[in-house]
Amino acid sequence: NRRQFIALGAAGVGTALVGHWLGQETISSQPLPSSSASAFGVYQSRDGLLELDIIAKENPVNLAGRQAYLLTYNGQVPAPRLEAQPGDKVRLHFTNNLSQPTNIHYHGLHIPVTGNADNVFLHIKPGEKLTYEFQIPPNHPAGTFWYHPHLHGLVAEQLFGGLAGLFIVRGQLDEIPEVKAAKEEFLVLQDFAVDNNGRLINSAHMSLMMGREGDIITANGQVNPSLSLPEQRLLRLRILNASPSRFYRLSLENHSFYQIATDGGALNEPIEVNELLLIPGQRAEVLIKGDRQPGQYRLLNLPYDRGGMGMMGGGMMGRNNRDEPIVLVTISYEDQGQSLSIPTQLASISALPEPQTVRSFELNHGMNPAVGMAFLINGEAYNHDRLDTQVQLDTVEDWEITNTGMMDHPFHVHNNAFQVISRNGQPESLLAWRDTVLVPRGETVRIRIPFRDFTGKTVYHCHVLDHEDLGMMGNLMINA
Ligand code: C2O
Ligand code: CU
Repeated sequence: NRRQFIALGAAGVGTALVGHWLGQETISSQPLPSSSASAFGVYQSRDGLLELDIIAKENPVNLAGRQAYLLTYNGQVPAPRLEAQPGDKVRLHFTNNLSQPTNIHYHGLHIPVTGNADNVFLHIKPGEKLTYEFQIPPNHPAGTFWYHPHLHGLVAEQLFGGLAGLFIVRGQLDEIPEVKAAKEEFLVLQDFAVDNNGRLINSAHMSLMMGREGDIITANGQVNPSLSLPEQRLLRLRILNASPSRFYRLSLENHSFYQIATDGGALNEPIEVNELLLIPGQRAEVLIKGDRQPGQYRLLNLPYDRGGMGMMGGGMMGRNNRDEPIVLVTISYEDQGQSLSIPTQLASISALPEPQTVRSFELNHGMNPAVGMAFLINGEAYNHDRLDTQVQLDTVEDWEITNTGMMDHPFHVHNNAFQVISRNGQPESLLAWRDTVLVPRGETVRIRIPFRDFTGKTVYHCHVLDHEDLGMMGNLMINA
Protein backbone atom coordinates (compact mmCIF):
# COMPACT_ATOMS: atom_id res chain seq x y z
CA ASN A 1 0.00 0.00 0.00
CA ARG A 2 1.48 3.29 -1.08
CA ARG A 3 -0.19 5.06 1.82
CA GLN A 4 2.08 3.81 4.51
CA PHE A 5 1.75 5.20 7.95
CA ILE A 6 4.98 4.77 9.80
CA ALA A 7 5.71 5.43 13.42
CA LEU A 8 9.24 6.58 13.90
CA GLY A 9 11.08 7.85 16.88
CA ALA A 10 12.45 6.65 20.14
CA ALA A 11 11.98 3.13 21.40
CA GLY A 12 8.74 2.72 23.24
CA VAL A 13 6.54 4.65 20.85
CA GLY A 14 3.27 2.94 21.44
CA THR A 15 1.33 0.61 19.23
CA ALA A 16 -1.29 3.31 18.96
CA LEU A 17 0.65 4.80 16.08
CA VAL A 18 1.68 1.72 14.19
CA GLY A 19 -0.18 0.46 11.21
CA HIS A 20 -1.32 1.20 7.74
CA TRP A 21 -3.47 4.09 6.84
CA LEU A 22 -6.89 2.54 6.46
CA GLY A 23 -9.32 5.39 6.58
CA GLN A 24 -10.23 8.50 8.31
CA GLU A 25 -10.39 7.16 11.82
CA THR A 26 -7.24 5.08 11.80
CA ILE A 27 -4.78 7.56 13.12
CA SER A 28 -5.19 7.62 16.81
CA SER A 29 -5.85 10.68 18.85
CA GLN A 30 -4.56 8.84 21.91
CA PRO A 31 -2.10 10.77 24.00
CA LEU A 32 1.38 10.20 22.73
CA PRO A 33 3.69 8.50 25.20
CA SER A 34 4.93 11.24 27.44
CA SER A 35 8.37 9.72 27.68
CA SER A 36 9.34 10.80 24.20
CA ALA A 37 9.18 14.05 22.36
CA SER A 38 9.70 12.31 19.07
CA ALA A 39 6.49 10.43 18.44
CA PHE A 40 5.03 11.63 15.16
CA GLY A 41 3.01 10.21 12.38
CA VAL A 42 5.14 10.28 9.26
CA TYR A 43 4.36 9.90 5.59
CA GLN A 44 7.30 9.36 3.28
CA SER A 45 7.40 9.37 -0.48
CA ARG A 46 7.85 6.07 -2.31
CA ASP A 47 9.19 5.74 -5.83
CA GLY A 48 9.00 9.45 -6.43
CA LEU A 49 5.47 9.93 -5.11
CA LEU A 50 4.16 11.22 -1.80
CA GLU A 51 0.45 10.48 -1.77
CA LEU A 52 -1.82 10.70 1.22
CA ASP A 53 -5.19 11.74 2.56
CA ILE A 54 -5.36 14.70 4.89
CA ILE A 55 -8.55 15.53 6.74
CA ALA A 56 -8.90 18.76 8.66
CA LYS A 57 -11.29 18.27 11.56
CA GLU A 58 -11.87 19.16 15.15
CA ASN A 59 -10.72 16.28 17.30
CA PRO A 60 -10.26 15.55 20.98
CA VAL A 61 -6.57 15.54 21.77
CA ASN A 62 -4.76 15.07 25.04
CA LEU A 63 -3.35 18.46 25.89
CA ALA A 64 -1.42 18.90 29.12
CA GLY A 65 -3.14 15.90 30.66
CA ARG A 66 -6.71 16.74 29.76
CA GLN A 67 -8.97 16.49 26.78
CA ALA A 68 -9.00 19.48 24.47
CA TYR A 69 -10.91 19.92 21.24
CA LEU A 70 -8.29 21.13 18.81
CA LEU A 71 -8.26 21.61 15.07
CA THR A 72 -6.26 18.80 13.56
CA TYR A 73 -5.00 17.29 10.36
CA ASN A 74 -5.80 13.56 10.61
CA GLY A 75 -6.60 13.86 14.28
CA GLN A 76 -3.09 14.81 15.29
CA VAL A 77 -1.42 17.82 16.84
CA PRO A 78 1.06 18.52 15.45
CA ALA A 79 -0.04 17.21 12.10
CA PRO A 80 1.71 14.25 10.49
CA ARG A 81 5.18 14.95 9.21
CA LEU A 82 5.49 14.69 5.44
CA GLU A 83 8.78 13.72 3.85
CA ALA A 84 9.76 13.87 0.22
CA GLN A 85 12.81 14.34 -1.95
CA PRO A 86 13.69 16.81 -4.68
CA GLY A 87 11.96 15.75 -7.89
CA ASP A 88 9.13 13.90 -6.10
CA LYS A 89 5.50 14.39 -6.96
CA VAL A 90 3.12 15.22 -4.15
CA ARG A 91 -0.57 14.31 -4.29
CA LEU A 92 -2.46 15.26 -1.19
CA HIS A 93 -6.14 14.40 -1.07
CA PHE A 94 -7.55 17.01 1.25
CA THR A 95 -10.96 16.98 2.94
CA ASN A 96 -12.23 19.93 4.93
CA ASN A 97 -14.29 18.64 7.83
CA LEU A 98 -13.92 21.87 9.77
CA SER A 99 -16.87 24.16 10.32
CA GLN A 100 -15.06 26.92 8.40
CA PRO A 101 -13.53 27.26 4.95
CA THR A 102 -9.82 26.64 4.76
CA ASN A 103 -6.93 25.72 2.45
CA ILE A 104 -3.28 24.68 2.74
CA HIS A 105 -0.09 26.67 2.31
CA TYR A 106 3.22 24.87 1.89
CA HIS A 107 5.37 27.33 3.78
CA GLY A 108 8.87 27.65 2.33
CA LEU A 109 8.56 25.20 -0.54
CA HIS A 110 9.57 26.57 -3.92
CA ILE A 111 6.66 25.19 -5.97
CA PRO A 112 3.97 26.66 -8.24
CA VAL A 113 1.67 29.21 -6.60
CA THR A 114 -1.24 28.62 -8.97
CA GLY A 115 -3.71 25.82 -9.69
CA ASN A 116 -3.80 23.05 -7.11
CA ALA A 117 -0.31 23.75 -5.79
CA ASP A 118 0.67 26.40 -3.21
CA ASN A 119 -2.34 28.52 -4.09
CA VAL A 120 -3.46 30.53 -1.07
CA PHE A 121 -6.48 31.87 -2.96
CA LEU A 122 -8.19 28.49 -2.96
CA HIS A 123 -11.30 28.47 -0.81
CA ILE A 124 -12.29 25.00 0.35
CA LYS A 125 -15.69 25.04 2.02
CA PRO A 126 -16.74 22.80 4.90
CA GLY A 127 -17.40 19.32 3.56
CA GLU A 128 -15.47 19.90 0.34
CA LYS A 129 -12.49 17.97 -0.95
CA LEU A 130 -9.55 19.08 -3.06
CA THR A 131 -6.51 17.23 -4.36
CA TYR A 132 -3.32 19.24 -4.09
CA GLU A 133 -0.82 18.19 -6.70
CA PHE A 134 2.66 19.49 -7.44
CA GLN A 135 6.23 18.48 -8.05
CA ILE A 136 9.11 19.43 -5.82
CA PRO A 137 11.69 20.74 -8.31
CA PRO A 138 14.66 18.40 -8.81
CA ASN A 139 17.03 21.17 -7.70
CA HIS A 140 15.03 22.00 -4.56
CA PRO A 141 17.19 22.41 -1.45
CA ALA A 142 16.85 19.95 1.40
CA GLY A 143 15.34 21.51 4.47
CA THR A 144 12.65 21.89 7.09
CA PHE A 145 9.46 23.31 5.64
CA TRP A 146 5.87 23.12 6.87
CA TYR A 147 2.18 23.30 6.00
CA HIS A 148 -0.69 25.21 7.56
CA PRO A 149 -4.00 26.87 6.58
CA HIS A 150 -3.91 30.19 4.73
CA LEU A 151 -7.43 31.51 4.26
CA HIS A 152 -7.19 35.24 4.85
CA GLY A 153 -9.11 36.27 7.96
CA LEU A 154 -8.98 32.81 9.55
CA VAL A 155 -5.27 32.03 9.46
CA ALA A 156 -4.48 32.92 13.07
CA GLU A 157 -7.56 31.17 14.44
CA GLN A 158 -6.89 27.96 12.51
CA LEU A 159 -3.20 27.86 13.37
CA PHE A 160 -3.99 28.56 17.00
CA GLY A 161 -6.35 25.59 16.84
CA GLY A 162 -3.38 23.37 16.03
CA LEU A 163 -3.34 23.00 12.24
CA ALA A 164 0.37 22.77 11.41
CA GLY A 165 2.79 20.07 10.36
CA LEU A 166 6.31 19.63 9.09
CA PHE A 167 7.14 19.12 5.42
CA ILE A 168 10.67 17.77 5.18
CA VAL A 169 12.64 17.71 1.96
CA ARG A 170 15.48 15.21 2.23
CA GLY A 171 18.56 15.80 0.12
CA GLN A 172 22.15 16.88 0.16
CA LEU A 173 22.23 18.16 3.74
CA ASP A 174 21.04 14.80 5.02
CA GLU A 175 23.91 13.04 3.25
CA ILE A 176 26.72 14.92 4.96
CA PRO A 177 28.36 12.15 7.04
CA GLU A 178 28.40 14.02 10.36
CA VAL A 179 24.80 15.13 9.90
CA LYS A 180 23.76 11.66 8.87
CA ALA A 181 25.44 10.12 11.91
CA ALA A 182 23.64 12.48 14.29
CA LYS A 183 20.47 11.42 16.03
CA GLU A 184 17.63 13.31 14.39
CA GLU A 185 14.73 14.81 16.33
CA PHE A 186 12.03 17.31 15.42
CA LEU A 187 10.45 19.96 17.61
CA VAL A 188 7.23 21.62 16.56
CA LEU A 189 6.53 24.48 18.96
CA GLN A 190 2.89 25.51 19.44
CA ASP A 191 0.96 27.32 22.14
CA PHE A 192 -2.70 26.88 23.05
CA ALA A 193 -5.42 28.44 25.15
CA VAL A 194 -8.39 26.27 26.15
CA ASP A 195 -11.16 26.77 28.70
CA ASN A 196 -12.18 24.36 31.47
CA ASN A 197 -14.20 22.32 29.00
CA GLY A 198 -11.22 21.94 26.72
CA ARG A 199 -12.66 24.33 24.14
CA LEU A 200 -10.31 26.64 22.29
CA ILE A 201 -10.29 30.24 23.46
CA ASN A 202 -10.16 32.59 20.52
CA SER A 203 -11.92 35.63 21.79
CA ALA A 204 -9.20 37.34 23.75
CA HIS A 205 -9.63 40.61 21.90
CA MET A 206 -6.66 42.21 23.58
CA SER A 207 -4.46 39.56 22.11
CA LEU A 208 -5.29 40.48 18.54
CA MET A 209 -3.04 43.48 18.77
CA MET A 210 0.03 41.50 19.73
CA GLY A 211 -1.35 38.37 18.15
CA ARG A 212 -2.91 35.57 20.15
CA GLU A 213 -0.73 33.66 22.57
CA GLY A 214 -1.74 30.74 24.76
CA ASP A 215 -0.50 29.79 28.20
CA ILE A 216 0.03 26.13 27.27
CA ILE A 217 3.32 25.85 25.44
CA THR A 218 3.90 22.55 23.72
CA ALA A 219 6.65 20.82 21.83
CA ASN A 220 5.24 18.10 19.57
CA GLY A 221 1.89 18.49 21.27
CA GLN A 222 3.28 17.84 24.73
CA VAL A 223 4.11 20.00 27.70
CA ASN A 224 7.70 19.51 28.75
CA PRO A 225 8.40 16.29 26.92
CA SER A 226 11.83 14.78 27.15
CA LEU A 227 14.36 14.05 24.51
CA SER A 228 17.46 12.01 24.83
CA LEU A 229 20.81 13.40 23.85
CA PRO A 230 23.09 10.46 23.18
CA GLU A 231 26.32 10.50 25.10
CA GLN A 232 29.32 11.17 22.86
CA ARG A 233 27.11 11.65 19.86
CA LEU A 234 25.46 14.54 18.06
CA LEU A 235 21.79 15.39 18.26
CA ARG A 236 20.32 17.09 15.20
CA LEU A 237 17.34 19.13 16.26
CA ARG A 238 15.02 20.50 13.59
CA ILE A 239 12.80 23.15 15.14
CA LEU A 240 9.69 24.86 13.80
CA ASN A 241 7.90 27.80 15.39
CA ALA A 242 4.31 26.96 14.45
CA SER A 243 2.80 29.42 16.94
CA PRO A 244 0.73 32.17 15.35
CA SER A 245 2.39 34.94 17.39
CA ARG A 246 4.72 33.68 20.07
CA PHE A 247 8.46 34.23 19.69
CA TYR A 248 10.80 31.58 21.08
CA ARG A 249 14.24 32.50 22.28
CA LEU A 250 15.73 29.10 22.92
CA SER A 251 18.71 28.10 24.94
CA LEU A 252 19.85 24.71 26.24
CA GLU A 253 21.43 24.73 29.68
CA ASN A 254 25.21 24.24 29.55
CA HIS A 255 25.20 23.65 25.81
CA SER A 256 25.71 25.65 22.68
CA PHE A 257 23.96 25.09 19.39
CA TYR A 258 25.78 24.56 16.11
CA GLN A 259 23.28 25.97 13.67
CA ILE A 260 23.42 24.14 10.34
CA ALA A 261 20.29 25.35 8.58
CA THR A 262 17.82 28.23 8.41
CA ASP A 263 14.37 28.37 6.80
CA GLY A 264 15.71 27.75 3.33
CA GLY A 265 18.11 24.91 4.09
CA ALA A 266 21.80 24.49 4.85
CA LEU A 267 24.19 27.25 5.82
CA ASN A 268 27.64 27.22 4.24
CA GLU A 269 29.14 26.10 7.52
CA PRO A 270 27.85 25.57 11.05
CA ILE A 271 27.79 28.58 13.34
CA GLU A 272 28.05 28.19 17.08
CA VAL A 273 25.45 30.15 19.02
CA ASN A 274 24.29 30.15 22.63
CA GLU A 275 20.69 30.93 21.86
CA LEU A 276 18.35 30.83 18.97
CA LEU A 277 15.54 33.28 18.29
CA LEU A 278 12.76 31.65 16.29
CA ILE A 279 10.04 34.04 15.19
CA PRO A 280 6.66 32.75 14.00
CA GLY A 281 7.02 30.70 10.84
CA GLN A 282 10.76 30.24 11.11
CA ARG A 283 12.72 27.01 11.27
CA ALA A 284 16.25 26.24 12.33
CA GLU A 285 18.37 23.14 12.46
CA VAL A 286 21.05 22.74 15.08
CA LEU A 287 23.57 20.12 16.14
CA ILE A 288 24.13 19.63 19.86
CA LYS A 289 27.11 17.78 21.28
CA GLY A 290 26.44 15.09 23.84
CA ASP A 291 29.68 15.79 25.66
CA ARG A 292 28.44 16.94 29.08
CA GLN A 293 27.85 15.07 32.30
CA PRO A 294 24.97 12.64 31.97
CA GLY A 295 21.93 14.26 33.49
CA GLN A 296 19.06 16.53 32.63
CA TYR A 297 19.32 19.85 30.90
CA ARG A 298 16.39 22.14 30.23
CA LEU A 299 15.69 23.65 26.84
CA LEU A 300 14.46 27.08 27.91
CA ASN A 301 12.43 29.80 26.32
CA LEU A 302 14.16 32.99 27.50
CA PRO A 303 12.49 36.36 28.02
CA TYR A 304 11.95 38.43 24.91
CA ASP A 305 10.23 41.75 24.41
CA ARG A 306 8.62 42.19 21.03
CA GLY A 307 7.13 45.58 21.75
CA GLY A 308 3.62 46.92 22.01
CA MET A 309 3.83 47.32 25.78
CA GLY A 310 2.71 50.91 25.93
CA MET A 311 -0.61 50.05 24.38
CA MET A 312 -1.26 47.07 26.58
CA GLY A 313 -1.80 48.96 29.79
CA GLY A 314 1.24 47.40 31.34
CA GLY A 315 0.14 43.84 30.55
CA MET A 316 2.66 41.21 29.69
CA MET A 317 1.29 40.45 26.26
CA GLY A 318 4.08 40.15 23.74
CA ARG A 319 6.70 39.60 26.37
CA ASN A 320 7.92 36.38 27.86
CA ASN A 321 8.88 37.45 31.32
CA ARG A 322 10.56 34.37 32.68
CA ASP A 323 12.56 31.38 31.57
CA GLU A 324 10.09 28.72 30.56
CA PRO A 325 11.30 25.15 30.24
CA ILE A 326 10.08 23.69 26.95
CA VAL A 327 11.80 20.33 26.70
CA LEU A 328 13.89 18.25 29.05
CA VAL A 329 16.98 16.99 27.33
CA THR A 330 18.48 13.97 29.01
CA ILE A 331 21.97 12.88 28.21
CA SER A 332 22.00 9.15 28.24
CA TYR A 333 24.24 6.45 26.98
CA GLU A 334 23.22 4.90 23.70
CA ASP A 335 25.14 2.07 22.20
CA GLN A 336 25.45 3.54 18.76
CA GLY A 337 28.25 4.89 16.64
CA GLN A 338 30.04 7.59 18.56
CA SER A 339 31.20 10.77 16.96
CA LEU A 340 31.16 14.37 18.05
CA SER A 341 32.72 15.92 15.01
CA ILE A 342 30.91 18.94 13.64
CA PRO A 343 30.97 19.12 9.85
CA THR A 344 33.01 21.94 8.35
CA GLN A 345 31.32 22.49 5.01
CA LEU A 346 27.57 22.15 4.52
CA ALA A 347 26.61 23.95 1.33
CA SER A 348 27.87 26.56 -1.07
CA ILE A 349 25.49 29.48 -1.00
CA SER A 350 26.69 32.30 -3.18
CA ALA A 351 25.77 35.93 -2.93
CA LEU A 352 23.09 37.10 -5.35
CA PRO A 353 23.77 39.51 -8.22
CA GLU A 354 22.87 43.17 -7.83
CA PRO A 355 19.12 43.81 -8.01
CA GLN A 356 17.33 45.15 -11.08
CA THR A 357 14.70 46.77 -8.87
CA VAL A 358 14.65 48.20 -5.36
CA ARG A 359 11.37 48.66 -3.50
CA SER A 360 10.41 50.00 -0.10
CA PHE A 361 7.83 48.64 2.27
CA GLU A 362 6.69 50.31 5.46
CA LEU A 363 5.09 48.24 8.19
CA ASN A 364 2.80 50.11 10.56
CA HIS A 365 -0.61 50.06 12.15
CA GLY A 366 -3.55 52.38 12.25
CA MET A 367 -7.18 52.49 13.24
CA ASN A 368 -9.96 50.79 11.36
CA PRO A 369 -13.52 51.56 12.56
CA ALA A 370 -14.63 47.95 12.12
CA VAL A 371 -11.89 46.10 13.98
CA GLY A 372 -10.11 48.81 15.92
CA MET A 373 -6.50 48.19 15.15
CA ALA A 374 -5.55 47.70 11.51
CA PHE A 375 -2.19 46.48 10.31
CA LEU A 376 -0.83 48.11 7.21
CA ILE A 377 1.85 47.80 4.55
CA ASN A 378 2.65 51.10 2.88
CA GLY A 379 -0.40 52.60 4.55
CA GLU A 380 -2.86 50.07 3.19
CA ALA A 381 -4.66 47.09 4.64
CA TYR A 382 -4.86 43.97 2.50
CA ASN A 383 -7.30 44.02 -0.38
CA HIS A 384 -7.88 40.76 -2.19
CA ASP A 385 -8.46 42.54 -5.51
CA ARG A 386 -5.50 44.90 -5.48
CA LEU A 387 -2.12 43.93 -6.95
CA ASP A 388 0.36 45.54 -4.63
CA THR A 389 3.64 44.45 -6.13
CA GLN A 390 4.36 43.24 -9.64
CA VAL A 391 7.70 41.67 -10.41
CA GLN A 392 9.31 40.13 -13.44
CA LEU A 393 10.30 36.47 -13.53
CA ASP A 394 14.05 35.91 -13.70
CA THR A 395 14.94 39.16 -12.04
CA VAL A 396 16.43 39.95 -8.66
CA GLU A 397 14.89 42.58 -6.38
CA ASP A 398 15.87 44.28 -3.16
CA TRP A 399 13.07 44.96 -0.72
CA GLU A 400 13.80 47.45 1.98
CA ILE A 401 11.36 46.86 4.80
CA THR A 402 11.02 49.49 7.50
CA ASN A 403 9.05 48.99 10.65
CA THR A 404 7.76 52.35 11.88
CA GLY A 405 5.32 50.79 14.33
CA MET A 406 5.55 49.90 17.99
CA MET A 407 5.98 46.16 17.79
CA ASP A 408 8.17 43.69 15.95
CA HIS A 409 6.93 42.07 12.75
CA PRO A 410 8.16 38.81 11.18
CA PHE A 411 8.03 39.44 7.42
CA HIS A 412 7.37 36.41 5.19
CA VAL A 413 7.47 36.12 1.40
CA HIS A 414 5.75 33.15 -0.18
CA ASN A 415 7.47 30.73 -2.48
CA ASN A 416 10.64 32.73 -3.16
CA ALA A 417 13.42 32.43 -0.62
CA PHE A 418 15.63 35.47 -0.06
CA GLN A 419 18.89 36.56 1.53
CA VAL A 420 19.17 39.33 4.10
CA ILE A 421 21.50 42.01 2.70
CA SER A 422 21.62 44.54 5.51
CA ARG A 423 20.02 45.63 8.76
CA ASN A 424 19.80 49.37 9.43
CA GLY A 425 22.37 49.93 6.70
CA GLN A 426 24.87 47.52 8.22
CA PRO A 427 25.76 44.73 5.80
CA GLU A 428 24.73 41.25 6.89
CA SER A 429 27.67 38.90 6.93
CA LEU A 430 25.86 35.57 7.17
CA LEU A 431 24.86 34.13 3.81
CA ALA A 432 21.62 32.24 4.35
CA TRP A 433 18.37 31.47 2.60
CA ARG A 434 15.30 32.52 4.51
CA ASP A 435 11.61 32.99 3.91
CA THR A 436 10.79 34.84 7.12
CA VAL A 437 12.82 37.63 8.69
CA LEU A 438 12.37 39.70 11.81
CA VAL A 439 11.88 43.41 11.24
CA PRO A 440 12.14 44.85 14.77
CA ARG A 441 10.26 48.02 15.64
CA GLY A 442 12.13 51.10 14.50
CA GLU A 443 14.44 49.15 12.21
CA THR A 444 15.00 48.57 8.51
CA VAL A 445 15.91 45.25 6.94
CA ARG A 446 16.93 44.87 3.32
CA ILE A 447 16.35 41.52 1.63
CA ARG A 448 17.35 40.33 -1.86
CA ILE A 449 14.91 38.05 -3.68
CA PRO A 450 15.47 36.16 -6.91
CA PHE A 451 12.16 35.41 -8.65
CA ARG A 452 12.69 32.12 -10.38
CA ASP A 453 10.75 29.32 -12.01
CA PHE A 454 7.14 30.20 -11.21
CA THR A 455 4.77 32.93 -12.32
CA GLY A 456 1.45 33.90 -10.81
CA LYS A 457 -0.09 35.60 -7.86
CA THR A 458 0.90 34.98 -4.27
CA VAL A 459 1.43 37.04 -1.09
CA TYR A 460 3.87 38.47 1.42
CA HIS A 461 2.81 39.30 4.95
CA CYS A 462 3.54 39.58 8.63
CA HIS A 463 3.72 36.11 10.23
CA VAL A 464 2.13 37.30 13.45
CA LEU A 465 -0.98 35.87 11.89
CA ASP A 466 -3.45 38.16 13.60
CA HIS A 467 -1.57 41.02 11.95
CA GLU A 468 -1.86 39.24 8.63
CA ASP A 469 -5.59 38.65 9.14
CA LEU A 470 -6.00 42.31 10.14
CA GLY A 471 -4.43 43.55 6.93
CA MET A 472 -0.64 43.29 7.02
CA MET A 473 -0.40 41.42 3.74
CA GLY A 474 0.14 42.33 0.10
CA ASN A 475 -0.52 40.59 -3.21
CA LEU A 476 2.56 39.78 -5.24
CA MET A 477 2.27 39.10 -8.97
CA ILE A 478 5.17 37.40 -10.68
CA ASN A 479 4.86 38.13 -14.39
CA ALA A 480 6.36 36.08 -17.20
CU1 C2O B 1 3.40 30.44 7.05
CU2 C2O B 1 1.78 33.05 4.38
O1 C2O B 1 2.54 31.75 5.75
CU1 CU C 1 3.12 41.89 12.59
